[in-house]
Amino acid sequence: MEDAHIVSNSYSETLTLASKFSKLLKRGDIVCLFGDLGAGKTAFVKGIARGLKIRTDAVHSPTFTLMNIYEARIPLYHFDLYRISSCDLFDLGYEEFFYGKGVSAVEWSEKLGTLLPREHWKVEMKHLGSDKRDIRIGYHGAGAGKRTKKLDTLS
Ligand SMILES: Nc1ncnc2c1ncn2[C@@H]1O[C@H](COP(=O)(O)OP(=O)(O)OP(=O)(O)O)[C@@H](O)[C@H]1O
Ligand SMILES: [Mg+2]
Repeated sequence: MEDAHIVSNSYSETLTLASKFSKLLKRGDIVCLFGDLGAGKTAFVKGIARGLKIRTDAVHSPTFTLMNIYEARIPLYHFDLYRISSCDLFDLGYEEFFYGKGVSAVEWSEKLGTLLPREHWKVEMKHLGSDKRDIRIGYHGAGAGKRTKKLDTLS
């Protein structure tokens, strides 16, 4: 299976897609989100949270804290790197989370630069006008063959 390529027609379709996608996630997985302002990255993270049985009203971009932790059977670590410098990322001890017992979701993964993890899910979101969004989901790293097998269940 190559990358999954989906067109979402609404905010709620994005939530549903991300919630389905969350079923493919395991502890220690890192979801790197790429996309412009308002592309729907936070919406996608809310969908992941819903799939992990986390209350979605708790989910908002951690603009001032850099990271939010949502506790659940599999905890979700929500990063937003829009305003971050790589020093801040080290101060945060990001590795403890990335390689910890939960799932990490990272908005503005462009900012990771050389810290982009070798193994990660890549979610790319683009505006297609009004409420339409182009969403591509793939896996980068040695585990790709195994991990992408069920991606076709998303489209
Ligand atoms: N198909 C769609 N999927 C997701 N969001 C949509 C969609 N259509 C419209 N929207 C709207 O677009 C906005 C997406 O906002 P969101 O905060 O998720 O974007 P973001 O990529 O996290 O932005 P930022 O870069 O500011 O963090 C919301 O207002 C949402 O209602
Ligand atoms: Mg956001």
